[in-house]
Amino acid sequence: MSLLTHTANVSQQHVSIVEVGARDGLQNEAAHVSSAIKAGLVDRLAAAGLLRIETGSFVSPRWVPQMADSAEVFASITRLPGVRYSALTPNLQGFERAMAAGADEVAVFAAASEAFSQKNINCGIRESIQRFTDVCAEARARGIAVRGYVSCAMGCPYQGAVPAEDVAMAVRELMALGCYEVSIGDTIGVGTPVQVQRVLSTCLQEARADQLAMHFHDTYGQALANLLAGLELGVFTIDASIAGLGGCPYAQGASGNVSTEDVVYMLHGMGLHTGIDLERLVDTSHWICHELNRSNQSRVALAMGSPSKCNV
Ligand code: HMG
Ligand code: MG
Repeated sequence: MSLLTHTANVSQQHVSIVEVGARDGLQNEAAHVSSAIKAGLVDRLAAAGLLRIETGSFVSPRWVPQMADSAEVFASITRLPGVRYSALTPNLQGFERAMAAGADEVAVFAAASEAFSQKNINCGIRESIQRFTDVCAEARARGIAVRGYVSCAMGCPYQGAVPAEDVAMAVRELMALGCYEVSIGDTIGVGTPVQVQRVLSTCLQEARADQLAMHFHDTYGQALANLLAGLELGVFTIDASIAGLGGCPYAQGASGNVSTEDVVYMLHGMGLHTGIDLERLVDTSHWICHELNRSNQSRVALAMGSPSKCNV
């Protein structure tokens, strides 16, 4: 059923937004960002109505120095009830650090491309799944939910084209490990809408639509169109990054995720619900760009103008 022609049928539909700006966004910042600014960002995002916030990453500090202070960030946030503060964990060491910091849930990140897996986490796909098996087993024992990611789902900076079947295979493996949701990553933002539908349709043979999420970077300006293509297939969970911050340090040239403001504006305009206050979001967007001294990548934030006040 097409959303464009049957919007009345989806007008009560809720779309779950996973805010990844404090992790995927900031991990790529070259200049040091203080823990106070990171925590301030997370708190402002929660105050704007985001219920799922990736707050940090317990990876090797040698690989991603910007995320070395994730424990301090977790210690500095003011937790709001109902908000899930999550963290990336590539291995058991990262999982233990995330637990010590008080992460509500964790995410493991696999790739659909062998070459990217090697560059990003220094091991092949098979070995990464073995590491995640240990993480998932430990998480299950402690009652912690695990999210999965599949990177390079629409293309790889090293390998080029990535078969949809390879993406679906990674989804199958992550679901088998007990991930409650798998986020399909267009890490370098090269996908286009029909391709997105082809890849997601193949993944839907391995997981239900409500077990998939879309994580689209906007390098080629396709992300909103790609999200619409995925919404048409019933995938109603979207990862997005405030002000379009970010990129992947191991995928050169990749820009940030689609901006949260642009996604929320589109969804609200379609009559879909997010529970997010767009004005507070835009205020937060301008605030973080000011703190980082960088230009805002959100068209909506630019169109709505500068903040009148800061919220938190
Ligand atoms: P490695 O060097 O192969 O790890 O890195 P190792 O097990 O051989 O250990 C080497 C050293 O690292 C040891 O320290 C370990 O203790 C330490 P040493 O004895 O030399 O002093 N170490 C750790 N320290 C802290 N926390 C840890 C940890 N693990 C080992 N968790 C590893 C393997 C996976 C750790 C490394 O490759 C890594 O951290 N990679 C992460 C890269 C990354 O964060 N990339 C960006 C996130 S993914 C992304 O952005 C894509 C996504 O957004 C979706 C999309 O867009 O598609 C999710
Ligand atoms: Mg990403």
